Amino acid sequence: MDWLLTPGPVRLHPKALEALARPQLHHRTEAAREVFLKARGLLREAFRTEGEVLILTGSGTLAMEALVKNLFAPGERVLVPVYGKFSERFYEIALEAGLVVERLDYPYGDTPRPEDVAKEGYAGLLLVHSETSTGALADLPALARAFKEKNPEGLVGADMVTSLLVGEVALEAMGVDAAASGSQKGLMCPPGLGFVALSPRALERLKPRGYYLDLARELKAQAEREAELLRKEAQAAKERLLQEAAQELKRLRAEIERARQEKALFLGQVRALFEGYLEALKRLEKTP
Ligand SMILES: Cc1ncc(COP(=O)(O)O)c(C=O)c1O
Repeated sequence: MDWLLTPGPVRLHPKALEALARPQLHHRTEAAREVFLKARGLLREAFRTEGEVLILTGSGTLAMEALVKNLFAPGERVLVPVYGKFSERFYEIALEAGLVVERLDYPYGDTPRPEDVAKEGYAGLLLVHSETSTGALADLPALARAFKEKNPEGLVGADMVTSLLVGEVALEAMGVDAAASGSQKGLMCPPGLGFVALSPRALERLKPRGYYLDLARELKAQAEREAELLRKEAQAAKERLLQEAAQELKRLRAEIERARQEKALFLGQVRALFEGYLEALKRLEKTP
């Protein structure tokens, strides 16, 4: 066996391998833009969100940091249950981001209990969905519900690095406002891309900071690329429609002309018949 049962790296998907063998696309070209926008659309479906997904250059950890720094301002209180290596990382990121962090410790292998996060006075709750270091899967919907009952304005952020495209993920339906993931797990691509999914609620509540990590600026840039492509697609569709309309008009004209000719032929035949009939009548009249 040439692979180990560890959290990664995963085997690359054959389509990823094939794409890697192709020449590199220049990132400012139309073709690259199309690939990028298609990927964003597919990621939106994967996270099952009506919001947005941003593709960042970095790893899952960068996406976790971008999520924390753009959702919460320094000094805000967040609750961080720690039940493995990666929830420990969420805790450290929150501390470094200047948040006031309350840590809830669990033995590694356990997952947090909803009643433990049902506490008032927090701007956010940070959870790891699939805690890769122990294999435990947290019950995100139950935890989000319990937290939001006590903190209706609170935001739930989740690490979905090893649950996206592996387990059940549905951002808003799970009560999760924002999630972080990466390219090298369920997506079966090489490492190097981080994803941040933002629900419509999170989009309204962004508190961007940083330069490279400023998600509001990134959203604007990625939306502009999308708008440009959509404008071009709309123009191409308009031209296609006009072309089709011109062809249809030509076909209709030809049909009208054919009908006109058929009508003239038919009238000629009727007239000839009628004249023949009159002739016959006249001959009959003259007959003594
Ligand atoms: C649950 C979880 N969160 C975060 C990470 C960190 O992701 P990355 O190594 O892409 O920074 C990993 C990596 O295995 C992970 O499994």
